[in-house]
Amino acid sequence: MLTKLKAQKALRQILDSVELPKQTKKDEKVFLQRIEQHFPALLVKLYELYGDHYDFFFHAQKLVVLLATSFASRKRKWKNLDEQRLADPYWYRSEKMLGMAVYVDLFAGNLNKLQSKIPYLKSLGVNYLHLMPLYKAPEGDSDGGYAVSDYRQVDPKLGTEKDLVQLAEALSAEGISLVLDFVFNHTSDEHKWAQEARKGNPDFEEFYYFFDDEQEVQDYNQTCREIFPTVRRGSFTHLDDIDKWVWTTFNSFQWDLNYSNPAVFNAITDEMLFLANIGCEGLRLDALAFIWKEKWTQCESLPKAHTLIQCFNACLQIVAPSVLFKSEAIVHPDEVARYIGKDECQLSYNPLMMALMWESLATRETKLLTASLKKSFEIAPEASWVNYIRCHDDIGWTFDDAVAEQMGIDGYQHRRFLNQFYTGKFAGSFSQGVPFQENPTTGDCRVCGSLASLAGLEKAIESDDSTQIDHAIKRVRLLNSINLSIGGVPLIYQGDELGILNDHSYLDDEFKREDSRWVNRPAIADSTIENAQSGVGYQSRIYRDLKQMIDLRKSDAVFGVARTEILETYRPHLFAYLREHDSGDKMLAICNFSEHSQTIPMSVCDCLEASEIKDVLTNTLVSGNEIHLGAYGVVWLKTYRGKGDE
Ligand code: GLC
Ligand code: GLC
Repeated sequence: MLTKLKAQKALRQILDSVELPKQTKKDEKVFLQRIEQHFPALLVKLYELYGDHYDFFFHAQKLVVLLATSFASRKRKWKNLDEQRLADPYWYRSEKMLGMAVYVDLFAGNLNKLQSKIPYLKSLGVNYLHLMPLYKAPEGDSDGGYAVSDYRQVDPKLGTEKDLVQLAEALSAEGISLVLDFVFNHTSDEHKWAQEARKGNPDFEEFYYFFDDEQEVQDYNQTCREIFPTVRRGSFTHLDDIDKWVWTTFNSFQWDLNYSNPAVFNAITDEMLFLANIGCEGLRLDALAFIWKEKWTQCESLPKAHTLIQCFNACLQIVAPSVLFKSEAIVHPDEVARYIGKDECQLSYNPLMMALMWESLATRETKLLTASLKKSFEIAPEASWVNYIRCHDDIGWTFDDAVAEQMGIDGYQHRRFLNQFYTGKFAGSFSQGVPFQENPTTGDCRVCGSLASLAGLEKAIESDDSTQIDHAIKRVRLLNSINLSIGGVPLIYQGDELGILNDHSYLDDEFKREDSRWVNRPAIADSTIENAQSGVGYQSRIYRDLKQMIDLRKSDAVFGVARTEILETYRPHLFAYLREHDSGDKMLAICNFSEHSQTIPMSVCDCLEASEIKDVLTNTLVSGNEIHLGAYGVVWLKTYRGKGDE
């Protein structure tokens, strides 16, 4: 073990023996202060990972130089932002936060044209923009860009590095934080490291997991989960030209990096700091559960995966402390929680709430949603959920089977039902999704589709059923209402604000045909945006409903830095939660997950401790003995403070 004291001594020795880049006295002071604050603890962690490597301190020394040069080359503008964020560490929990995720090409054409979309983003209230992977990637299938061939080169179809830097500055000038993917579990097989490895360069062979022996591959396959079983069975790909196996958790052209090698840690840290210095304020840690592997384990969410993320986080604290990590752990809720916190990821997708909102829509029952969120919604105050309803991926039915069992629900059967329901195979289903990655061995499956189509709009339009159209729009509103008000950064997925339906054109593309996630990756036409904003048609209702709730959210601190309590409604179809701000201000949300009207006694509002109550969504006073909620109705209840309250 390396003690903190020895690590401090080691840091001093390293600093004495290396030459650091020239910088202003003030910058020098800031850097030294930060490295003294964070590096010793970082070194202790790195020692846990790599202490048995003969060249451990050689790599540690290289890391110090890397941190110093990355800090020295960080633009003044971003250094100022670092100071600003350090002084306001909970900025991302504000009610003002609103995220959107877009593909550069599908949303705008290219990086330059994206600048002309800034007014649209601002009109909606977006101030956190996640651009889907935009780096150089293989032609044809690149897993939607998640096979990176060069972390420093923008995909030429989208523009240049200069365009990206300009966009980052333009967004920042408009108060929009740029979020980029950090695809660090794997590179594409066309990355220069992969090409060197394939050529037999021993330094780079150690960047990946290569095996000569098929038995070894089979041993690992026994315990690892298959992520893309319709692409290829198991987690490995045989490279016929060199007669070796390589670890590929996802597609065969996505080679997993070998983090048991300290050189990989340093090389990827270099790429990460390069991204941070472009001017992004968030990095989405793609597939972070898979980064550490050990034989006879599931090779997911292992303790050392956490240690690694803490190490990356510490490097950011030294060089670019304004940059946040967002965890993309789509795993068991208890495991999701372990990535969240100041030392790992300040932000995390909330896959449990996402999946269970859909579950409640299908069953019309809220017991699993309520019980699960009661157990798992609360996280550390210095962290925030990123709440979402749909994203570019499939929906996996992630929930805790033990909680389900307590509710009398069999997890396995229930997932089968949900897959049937959302692919429209269950009699009476309103939904029109597409199956994804059906596993022939386990029967496991996931679902794809746009928010509007999964919520029933596509089917309702096809059958020209006005009641169903109305219900579908109300379902979308219901999910949006929770996303915006329950606490966390709401993240809208491109096109869902416009009620865009499934796009089946991917079936005509030989590189997309096999990957049904493309059904929910539509191109967004200007005319669609204009139509939605013009106020005609049902899609514009979706837009209008959403916009109204966004405006309410942004105008009230109870949606920002406040506590959430999930309430028991004792009504099978109702879901409720209370938000409570430090000022004492409160908001009670109640939602009806059924198409039938529901009532709940007025006493549910006792928690508001108010004599008069108003629903801020309709701006009307609520009175009587009961609260009524129509089909898929929602109320946001607050104390009415008399005239002038509006
Ligand atoms: C993440 C992405 C997904 C991709 C996978 C492999 O889960 O969201 O789209 O296929 O990582 O990079
Ligand atoms: C699995 C993985 C997740 C990935 C997804 C892609 O759910 O856990 O990381 O995004 O597959 O389909």
